Amino acid sequence: MVKVHLREITKDNLVSCLNLQVNENQKNLVATTAQSLAQAYVDPHLFPLAIYDTAACGYEQPSVPMLGFTMYELVAGVGFIMRLMIDCKYQRQGYGRATMLEVIRRLKLYPDVEFIATSYRKENEVAAKLYQSLGFKQWDIPYAINHPTEVYVRLEEFPLDVAKEA
Ligand SMILES: CC(C)(COP(=O)(O)OP(=O)(O)OC[C@H]1O[C@@H](n2cnc3c(N)ncnc32)[C@H](O)[C@@H]1OP(=O)(O)O)[C@@H](O)C(=O)NCCC(=O)NCCS
Repeated sequence: MVKVHLREITKDNLVSCLNLQVNENQKNLVATTAQSLAQAYVDPHLFPLAIYDTAACGYEQPSVPMLGFTMYELVAGVGFIMRLMIDCKYQRQGYGRATMLEVIRRLKLYPDVEFIATSYRKENEVAAKLYQSLGFKQWDIPYAINHPTEVYVRLEEFPLDVAKEA
């Protein structure tokens, strides 16, 4: 199974991050990395990360290429996966799914995170299927009313329902 290694964006890998590209028909589905990094610069709740193959783990300077970009937000008990993109050269090799699994693993480590959520544009069938297969279910957040082109989903098996066991 493919595994990824996530790493902070620094001055050493910034250009690779800015050069990440999705296919032409995917450009309306996700913000550019430049936009995301600008948002993260002014918002301390945002955590932008570069995606590498796990082969990069342990190396100060990865000898494998950057594959994509992800960014999550930690606010009010929610770990919200705001961005996920795999460069068009590396799509359909399992890296998107592997990145979601790694981000979920990381979010579960934060004591403040009570549940994990994400969103995607209504027409994004690939994202819809991917998130559904990972256990995300529709999230009826009132905030969604103001964003009718977006579908909000949250991970159902997390947290464990301790109330039921009591
Ligand atoms: C969504 C995205 C991150 C998936 O990345 P990826 O590395 O290609 O995904 P994976 O290889 O892990 O595949 C995950 C699943 O999606 C399917 N899939 C991926 N690309 C697909 C495509 N173009 N058409 C149909 N299915 C596709 C795979 O077959 C796989 O399904 P399976 O697990 O049932 O076999 C990538 O397509 C992307 O960057 N898209 C543009 C940005 C975007 O839409 N981001 C998500 C919403 S913010």
